[in-house]
Amino acid sequence: MSIQSENIKKLVERREKARLGGGPKRIEAQHAKGKKTARERLELLLDPGSFEETDMFLQHRCTNFGMDASHPDGDGVVTGFGTIDGRLVYVYAQDFTVSGGSLSKTMSEKICKIQDMALRAGAPCIALNDSGGARIQEGIDALAGYGEIFERNILSSGVIPQISGIFGPCAGGAVYSPALTDFTLMVKNSSYMFLTGPAVVKSVTGEVVDQEELGGASVHASKSGVAHFAADSEEDGIQTIKKLLSFLPQNNMETAPEKPTEDSPFRLDDELNSIIPDNPNKSYDMYKVIGSIVDDGEFFEIHKDYAKNIIVGFAHMNGRSVGIVANQPAVLAGVLDINASRKASRFVRFCDAFNIPLVTLVDVPGFLPGTQQEYGAIITNGAKLLYAYGEATVPKVTVTLRKGYGGAHIVMSCKQLRGDINYAWPSAQIAVMGADGAVNVLYAKELKADPEHASEIFEEKKKEYEDLFSNPYQAAQKGYIDDIIEPRNTRFRVIRALESLAGKRQEIPAKKHDNLPL
Ligand code: HXC
Repeated sequence: MSIQSENIKKLVERREKARLGGGPKRIEAQHAKGKKTARERLELLLDPGSFEETDMFLQHRCTNFGMDASHPDGDGVVTGFGTIDGRLVYVYAQDFTVSGGSLSKTMSEKICKIQDMALRAGAPCIALNDSGGARIQEGIDALAGYGEIFERNILSSGVIPQISGIFGPCAGGAVYSPALTDFTLMVKNSSYMFLTGPAVVKSVTGEVVDQEELGGASVHASKSGVAHFAADSEEDGIQTIKKLLSFLPQNNMETAPEKPTEDSPFRLDDELNSIIPDNPNKSYDMYKVIGSIVDDGEFFEIHKDYAKNIIVGFAHMNGRSVGIVANQPAVLAGVLDINASRKASRFVRFCDAFNIPLVTLVDVPGFLPGTQQEYGAIITNGAKLLYAYGEATVPKVTVTLRKGYGGAHIVMSCKQLRGDINYAWPSAQIAVMGADGAVNVLYAKELKADPEHASEIFEEKKKEYEDLFSNPYQAAQKGYIDDIIEPRNTRFRVIRALESLAGKRQEIPAKKHDNLPL
């Protein structure tokens, strides 16, 4: 065999060995847990044959605790770039079969290189996490590696989409990389995220809790909101990441790809004309309205199980990607509380950063009152949503379907927060508060002075108030809304509004950065 043939043979063999990561036994152990390997995940994620691997031969440099006995090529992470639906993405997938995917300094160098390349190329960066955290044998070097990754997460924020998939353990400070990215997806029953595990929790607080209950996918998708998605399986998780990407641009200088549709922009839906119940205290399902107005009824929801009183997600309207924010009257009457405000404000800011127009559907009775909300800083948290809408310069189209009361009306993308086109249905009630509350405040003395006729007075004044405010005409007369539209026309009116705004340019004053109420 010639020297060159020998060289090539050696390369092929090294590659084959590197592709086995921690070796067949550890791969088997990974499969036995119902988990895929890093490479199997990347194979599912990327277009066939598109993966270009980087740093396959990088090795750790640790000599502590016998680590110098083994130097697997590539160490515990697979990195590179490829395409998803033909669009460039940068990826890294932690390989649990090598030292439990624990982060060595070498691994952080591989990851940072990918983050830098993604930022330079202006393409999304996708991380698939499955790691025991900082590589204990490396001490402070591993911690420094995390710091370097976090810094790149921060620099990339708002420039390229960053997505984190959690496919196994993600504990300790390691959780902060996903937390710094735009979207976090977890897999039910096989992934968990927490700062300290069950044993530490028990020793510090005495609380007994298992991994799933402390930081499983369902917990983070419904209670903490740390996870935007809880996938049923790894395959489902990968598909969700791919679908999510289809609504996003490559970077903050581009717009999202268009998705041609057969669904006519002029399609009317008569059912919307009767969706609002006559009784203002009765609810209806906002999902029906969303499904009716977007292309082909397809809505990709974010944070589906968290703060269900507000709905956020992506859809297409006449082929263009839009972000939908909608109060959900069927849950807590669609009231705005701390969690709903946080959920929606983060989504609005994402859409604004990545040039995705916002369509806001309003039916909100107000902010949730009470000590729990006040002590939890509903003031600061509500201000986040206000701030997010007020600073957003993407096209903003708002439709008030029914209630738009008080501060909540202002917060939900009103005209004064630079809403571009604000419509209302004839059922809209845009006022400082609902009729009952208003009469109780305005006529408190009269009602108290004449208890015998109190209910008569109440009804009379309520009617007066309703005639004046329980309609959209006051707001329309003052130009606070641009038009009152027939509900069945909503799809084409919103599409036309969005199309008129396609070339929108709006500035915010120059500043180092804002100081939004965190
Ligand atoms: C080095 C590690 C490791 C780590 C796992 N391994 N975690 N090696 N550093 N952090 C190794 C194990 O020794 C084992 O090697 C192999 O990976 C597989 O691990 P197992 O324990 O056999 O797997 P499993 O039973 O599935 O348990 C997984 C696990 C557990 C729950 C993740 O390994 C674990 O608790 N690891 C330690 C987690 C931790 O405390 N990490 C530090 C967090 S602090 P062998 O050769 O025996 O098969 C942190 C700070 C970050 O991360 C700060 C950032 C700012």
